[in-house]
Amino acid sequence: MMQKGGYLLNLIRSSSFGSLSKIGAFYASRAASSAQEACEPSAYSSGSDDECGEIDWDNLGFGIKPTDYMYVTKCTDDGLFEQGQLNRYGNIELNPSAGVLNYGQGIFEGTKAFRREDGGLFLFRPDQNAIRMQYGADRMCMPSPSIDQFVDGVKQTALANRRWIPPPGKGSLYIRPLLIGSGPILGLSPAPEYTFLVYSSPVGNYFKNGLSPLNLYIEDEFHRATRGGVGGVKSITNYAPVLKALTRAKSRGFSDVIYLDSVHKKYLEEATSCNVFVVKGNHISTPPTSGNILPGITRKTVIDIARDHGYQVEERAVPVEELLDGDEVFCTGTAVSIVPVGSITYLGKRVEYKTTGETVSRDLYSTLIGIQSGLAEDKKGWFLQIE
Ligand SMILES: Cc1ncc(COP(=O)(O)O)c(C=O)c1O
Repeated sequence: MMQKGGYLLNLIRSSSFGSLSKIGAFYASRAASSAQEACEPSAYSSGSDDECGEIDWDNLGFGIKPTDYMYVTKCTDDGLFEQGQLNRYGNIELNPSAGVLNYGQGIFEGTKAFRREDGGLFLFRPDQNAIRMQYGADRMCMPSPSIDQFVDGVKQTALANRRWIPPPGKGSLYIRPLLIGSGPILGLSPAPEYTFLVYSSPVGNYFKNGLSPLNLYIEDEFHRATRGGVGGVKSITNYAPVLKALTRAKSRGFSDVIYLDSVHKKYLEEATSCNVFVVKGNHISTPPTSGNILPGITRKTVIDIARDHGYQVEERAVPVEELLDGDEVFCTGTAVSIVPVGSITYLGKRVEYKTTGETVSRDLYSTLIGIQSGLAEDKKGWFLQIE
């Protein structure tokens, strides 16, 4: 676990605190201190804190471990976000009538920073997260940061917290950009002010059993998305409603839930926080991103890799029978990477899939990890070097 003394020591070593932040009053520090200090982004360019934080890198899991700084910027009526700045990581203060608290006006993203053997630090396709946030913001009637502002905020957050980027092969720094209606509003309408905030946490595997095969449950009572709804964007309102199905499935020993479409109750949509692929022979099928499922960045990347490897990839409606009849099934997502599915249970019937020997998911995973670690050429420029 992180040690307080080490944290403070590194914090002092790696920073030069400036004056009280203009928006600092908006945030309360982690220690509930009244001091609200912000730091100039340039304070981190010296690279003085390359040393890794004090943490058990071998047992990271996927839980919040506070890092040192978060990036914050706000915008009001003109829809333009002011120059962002790094604040010490900590609680934020919101008006009780903030749009996000009352009406769920908020979206988020998830991306990762990796450390390579040679010490290089990389982000994975942050521009794609920026584009997705813009699309989601539009759907939720929110202004969004420009692509450059978004990528800059992610980059600054990663660099400011570089000592929390795990050693190669141990995990990554999960980076969570958040866009919320922070201004007060009582009658239902878009909030008068928005906050774009980026925080991070070192993570290992998302699922408890690492990359071992998942046991999924097809939900036949609850749905995740509806036609014309917001299933296709990363709205915060998509996640609490699936907790019921998820916790129920977990309590029965399943790893996650697969949702079917709410109209026919027949077509595969996705899992709680990842996209799903079905393999049959040389064919790989996955549902189209036509509004109900999240257009995953890992999904898009995996489709590219699979096509390059000569698989026939189809984005089309996949009936549940076809899912159950697949040779292999796997899930993709920033948090989970590419993870094989060992079994799926539907209406009391359990179907098992190939997970050992030469599998398609392992083939695709090896390629992605090869590029991520720098062992294979990054021909498509997916990894952005930040240091
Ligand atoms: C509902 C949902 N589907 C799919 C994904 C995978 O998307 P990505 O590969 O961009 O992480 C996520 C995670 O972001 C998600 O929350």
